[in-house]
Amino acid sequence: MRLSPPPLSLYIHFPWCVRKCPYCDFNSHPVQGDLPEQQYVEALLLDLTQDLEWIEKERVRYPGPLHSLFLGGGTPSLFSPESIDRLLSGIRALLPWPPDIEITLEANPSTVESNKFRAFRDLGINRLSLGVQSFQEPKLKALGRIHSAREAEAAIETAKEAGFTNLNVDLMFGLPRQSLNDALYDVITALRHAPTHISFYQLTLEPNTIFAKYPPSLPDEDTVWEIGQTGQEKLELAGFQRYEISAYAQEGYQCQHNLNYWRFGDYLGLGAGAHGKLTDAQRGRIWRYFKIRHPGHYLQKAKTPERIGGRVLIAERERPLEFLLNALRLKEGFSPGQFECCTGLPFSLVEPVLDALLAENLLYQQNGRIACTPLGWNFLDSVLERFIGL
Ligand SMILES: C[S@@+](CC[C@H](N)C(=O)[O-])C[C@H]1O[C@@H](n2cnc3c(N)ncnc32)[C@H](O)[C@@H]1O
Ligand code: SF4
Repeated sequence: MRLSPPPLSLYIHFPWCVRKCPYCDFNSHPVQGDLPEQQYVEALLLDLTQDLEWIEKERVRYPGPLHSLFLGGGTPSLFSPESIDRLLSGIRALLPWPPDIEITLEANPSTVESNKFRAFRDLGINRLSLGVQSFQEPKLKALGRIHSAREAEAAIETAKEAGFTNLNVDLMFGLPRQSLNDALYDVITALRHAPTHISFYQLTLEPNTIFAKYPPSLPDEDTVWEIGQTGQEKLELAGFQRYEISAYAQEGYQCQHNLNYWRFGDYLGLGAGAHGKLTDAQRGRIWRYFKIRHPGHYLQKAKTPERIGGRVLIAERERPLEFLLNALRLKEGFSPGQFECCTGLPFSLVEPVLDALLAENLLYQQNGRIACTPLGWNFLDSVLERFIGL
């Protein structure tokens, strides 16, 4: 079976936040003193240069044209528009992109950051992702967020006024002491502001976070299930399609960058702790690579000629699970042909397990594609476990 090179996206990680939220296990660190904006932009450009040198030297794949760009974090919106401008211009000189490409920036809805939205839009950033989480004051406090409910609502409007027609709102549910009505208030308030995309995540207690050490009082399983179900119904009634397990979009507003991850596309990852994936179709190999995680160490390394990170090959036996844990998150699922092009392995390898899951109504098959049923999505971890050690 031959691998084919999938589309290539670019992810850029910004590892700083005003404060660390007690539930967050992302590579994000509280800002201490001034942000090293200029130094970090230079390091990111060096990081990209090193990636491109490696790709070219070893002829891993043809890099361009890019499929999407995503500036994520942490809190990229803490950076000034001038720094983001220098970064985007620098990247563009190394790796051009087509004019209509999706460029997302993650932002927190504080007033300071909202004031920069228009300048970010003027730089060509055409998708904004706002980390609202909740529109209720006590919930925002319990989550350790720095913005108020009023600021969250105002930020959405400011983003629209700034010209962001492609606008995501992140909401979390299953929050400390959250009732069904609390959660529905959040969904309805988000809908009232008419964004084009809503990510609706269940709060998870991640290891090595403050919440894991001091667990808050969370709603019971039945309430969380009811919130998930009712939230989904409200979103779908308002015209949002659930195209991924936690992602809802109006027609034509699915996140192209995330779709590329879920379709097992390739991506370059720049910045502290960023990951990348590259397909070397000619040699039948798939690389995963990673960058130094700690921002201070990352910046230090960028002053030396050494590489900023390392890389490993994805072993053939790991590929089916890696592919499926992305593809089964999608409503569209995947086709046997896609499985073979993306993994370089015969579909027959996973067929017996897929057949068993189809018989158990955890998966369904339609128009030559296989996807999770609603039941399968509810038990996605158990579905995926069945592919371990194939
Ligand atoms: C890592 S944040 C980056 C964006 C921005 N810093 C923010 O917090 O809004 C991206 C999103 O991940 C989600 N998230 C982070 N930690 C989570 C957790 N433990 N459980 C569920 N969702 C989480 C939140 O909805 C958040 O908006
Ligand atoms: S603001 Fe976002 S990235 Fe930063 S700590 Fe909170 S959840 Fe994590």
